Amino acid sequence: MEILVTGGSGYIGSHTCIELLNAGFEVIVVDNFCNSNRQALERVRKITGKKLKIYEIDLLDREGLCDVFYHNSVKGVIHFAGFKAVGESVQKPLHYYNNNLGSTITLCEVMQEFGVKKMVFSSSATVYGPTETVPLKEEIPLEATNPYGRTKLILEQILQDIHVADNEWSTTFLRYFNPVGAHESGLIGEDPNGIPNNLTPYITQVAIGKLNKLSVFGNDYPTHDGTGVRDYIHVMDLAVGHLKALDQVLTNNGVNVYNLGTGQGYSVLEVIRTFEEVTGIPIPFEITGRRPGDIAISYADPTKARLELGWHAQKGLEDMLRDAWRWQEMNKEGYLSKDRLIP
Ligand code: WQD
Repeated sequence: MEILVTGGSGYIGSHTCIELLNAGFEVIVVDNFCNSNRQALERVRKITGKKLKIYEIDLLDREGLCDVFYHNSVKGVIHFAGFKAVGESVQKPLHYYNNNLGSTITLCEVMQEFGVKKMVFSSSATVYGPTETVPLKEEIPLEATNPYGRTKLILEQILQDIHVADNEWSTTFLRYFNPVGAHESGLIGEDPNGIPNNLTPYITQVAIGKLNKLSVFGNDYPTHDGTGVRDYIHVMDLAVGHLKALDQVLTNNGVNVYNLGTGQGYSVLEVIRTFEEVTGIPIPFEITGRRPGDIAISYADPTKARLELGWHAQKGLEDMLRDAWRWQEMNKEGYLSKDRLIP
């Protein structure tokens, strides 16, 4: 069965492609490679020993997208493609609205035209906004606080409206918490452009010597040690969650939404300490001011996904950090690394 994966060469997309191929699906990747590296898909082929089709297309290219649907028999779509940097979205809101909204609307129009009405949508815990109530449940009021989060919120509403207009549509939104880690092979992983915004790639770049020290953004939050608490989830657990959601959309109609998190929060200092314990590598850091827009605590109530999708995270923080480090150690410059690949 052919599944189209938009943004399939990205961090979560490439890991999900591995799970799809291993589960026997035929994978078609559509990606414009603006924020990812084609090499990730070569490595997906190496890891799985399976082929996948790759179309270098921007989702805003309606004609190109129609060709993909015309020449293949797509049964469902997992939609990852989109800009995802919170800080950048504040600087360039139009860039984010045009790309994230425009590309998804074009995708849905082409899906509708070809009678493909099954989608797993990559959403985010940022739709919850700043809230004191943790753990976060899917039903709480939503309130994005940045353009990136607002694109996810608006797209969830657009996809709801599409189902209201045509109840043959089946869409599942997955609200990710903090994806971390890499495939156990170390051949694929998180490969941010430039200086990492997120905590764990920043830590691994300090560990490998690319960056001098970590800035801990504030230790005066109302948490057990004053630093921000987040729900870190292994990217391979996320990938499995997408397969469960795909099964759901292929066999049901309707709209469903699930948190993909572990339900366990860890502070920044706990992440640093765990990384040092797992790798034996000290991570120099300094406490600096809070990062604008950051919230104190965010972690999921993952009960709904467990009960309805039969999914729960299997891997713990040590696994995440061990796997993140293996990827970084094997690929000092990310996918552009000339480092020897461990066969
Ligand atoms: C985690 C914690 C920081 C970097 C973001 C997006 C979210 C989602 C996941 C897309 C916080 C602290 C970080 C650093 C630090 N992406 N930190 N020093 O902000 O929880 O979520 O990524 O869906 O939309 O908002 O993740 O990794 O940036 O921060 O102290 O150099 O680490 O303050 O407490 P965040 P993060």
